[in-house]
Amino acid sequence: MRKNFGAKTWVYPMPVLIVAAYGKDGVPCCMNAAWGGIYDTDQIMVCLADDHKTTRNILESGAFTVSVADAKHVVQADYVGIVSGNRVPDKMVRAGLTWE
Ligand SMILES: Cc1cc2nc3c(=O)[nH]c(=O)nc-3n(C[C@H](O)[C@H](O)[C@H](O)COP(=O)(O)O)c2cc1C
Repeated sequence: MRKNFGAKTWVYPMPVLIVAAYGKDGVPCCMNAAWGGIYDTDQIMVCLADDHKTTRNILESGAFTVSVADAKHVVQADYVGIVSGNRVPDKMVRAGLTWE
């Protein structure tokens, strides 16, 4: 049976991108982003809400990283997607993540 859902931005599975950026204080933050992917042969895109701590860090620093979470890190990936650095400044430490 066919069903017409109209024009939707549905492409599954969606990725589990982990976007990270340092704050002005040198403290890193990261978040889970499913709204992202390939944009062009030399570009990716991510769609980030402006109230996230990570988004603010990116706008202030002009730099960020994008990683792809794997099954081994599902707990950490989940944590950084539901807890905000706005409320938990040491979020990455609490997530058990390290950075360099
Ligand atoms: C599976 C999943 C996917 C998400 N995808 C996005 C996304 O694409 N864009 C976005 O702005 N927020 C997305 N979020 C929400 C942020 O990851 C979440 O609000 C996070 O706590 C923001 O952290 P921060 O304030 O420390 O930067 C997603 C959350 C989950 C659990």
